[in-house]
Amino acid sequence: MPAIVLIGAQWGDEGKGKATDLLGDKAAYVVRYQGGNNAGHTVVIGREKYALHLLPSGILTPSCVPVIGNGVVIDPAVLLEEIKGLNERGVDTSKLKISTNAHLITPYHRTIDKVSERFLGKAKIGTTGRGIGPAYADKINRIGIRVQDLFDPSILRQKLEGALRDKNQVLIKVFNRKGIEVDAVLAEYLGFAEILRPYATDTSLLLNNALDKGELVLLEGSQGTLLDVDHGTYPFVTSSNPTAGGASTGSGIGPTKINRVIGIVKAYTTRVGSGPFPTELLDAAGEKLRADGGEFGTTTGRARRTGWYDALIARYAVRINGLTDFFLTKLDVLTGWEKIPVCVAYEINGKRVDELPASQTDFHHAKPIYESLPGWSDNISSARKLSDLPENARAYIKYLEEISGAPMSAIGVGPGRDETIVVKDFV
Ligand code: GDP
Ligand code: IMO
Ligand code: MG
Repeated sequence: MPAIVLIGAQWGDEGKGKATDLLGDKAAYVVRYQGGNNAGHTVVIGREKYALHLLPSGILTPSCVPVIGNGVVIDPAVLLEEIKGLNERGVDTSKLKISTNAHLITPYHRTIDKVSERFLGKAKIGTTGRGIGPAYADKINRIGIRVQDLFDPSILRQKLEGALRDKNQVLIKVFNRKGIEVDAVLAEYLGFAEILRPYATDTSLLLNNALDKGELVLLEGSQGTLLDVDHGTYPFVTSSNPTAGGASTGSGIGPTKINRVIGIVKAYTTRVGSGPFPTELLDAAGEKLRADGGEFGTTTGRARRTGWYDALIARYAVRINGLTDFFLTKLDVLTGWEKIPVCVAYEINGKRVDELPASQTDFHHAKPIYESLPGWSDNISSARKLSDLPENARAYIKYLEEISGAPMSAIGVGPGRDETIVVKDFV
């Protein structure tokens, strides 16, 4: 059996956690391949609600092996807290595997993330403040600390000294902050080493062996297509590649092994943090979407910005990721609107544009052109097949499918594991 990638088609928080969990019992492995604890993936099982930040959603499926791949940046303190929290709720985490090549977030990454945002003032990105950008910057700059470095104290000291030499200069002289002591970080991180050692392994080898045996590997993206550092709304993006190509580099699985790429897309749009958002609603309609959808960040608790569905973004996600399917989430949140606008094109400097503009300046100036569809008023949470839905809800899905460019193979009608209409099985 091949590998399947699940990714966010918009700006994150599309419901990737729920979608991954739904397929969990069919998968032998569920893998996080990028991002870190900037992610917040919610899974609702019966009356239990779990918010996962670093652990793959497969951790909640007993038959499945959860994997943190090489492309992830790990804050060990957060990881251990998350493991502890789940253990206290009776979730077994002993099968977890962590790539020895994954990079570590350290206290100086968190500090630099926060102070550099403060210094950006109005131009700030609105990061989660978890040290994600600075940790990836060090990785690319070849001064990062990896999981395997924890198991070699002299290398760890050497690398920390190397990294902190520059960082302390910047912290003290540019940001007017205290320097960070190598010894303190070394002691803390050596403490993590013994706890993390049993989980650490060559996850690329593990996953490729599983694929060779015909087992199903699910690759769970975090963030979303428009937060991708290459393909998103740069600089208002995260510092990794959530898009489908990132699944291959971030897990050590060749692209030929991936045969399905599922884009998780909300029936409307949200965004956390700064940056352009053409369909954003800054009025009572936006407030209503936020209230009805519970649109407050799983990680930072920030109110999410809200707006209507944007078909240009969906088409772009199909193109960049080679999406084979969409999983449309939160359709139930749209219940009760008389009319539901859908953005089908932009007007930029007086001209109609049908694809996401290649220039960021144009994107900032894009005004949505809407088609309005008739809404529905019946509660749809108990629908389990398309024919259970009101006619207008079915028409809305069909219209989105036509203008977005890939089939809507599953529809979310509530946060619960079973609150889903499966139109076409993914596996
Ligand atoms: P993720 O980061 O993509 O995993 O998404 P989040 O967990 O941050 O945000 C999605 C929110 O929507 C969570 O609170 C989910 O429980 C919830 N959710 C997911 N699918 C649906 C759905 O179809 N309907 C409703 N009402 N809520 C959903
Ligand atoms: P999940 O996986 C929504 C946003 C931040 C900020 C930008 C950069 O739950 O969908 P970072 O801390 O990554 O350097 O912040 O990216 N962001 C997210 N927005 N969902 C997420 O994750 C996000 N992870 C980062 O708000 O705008
Ligand atoms: Mg989230």
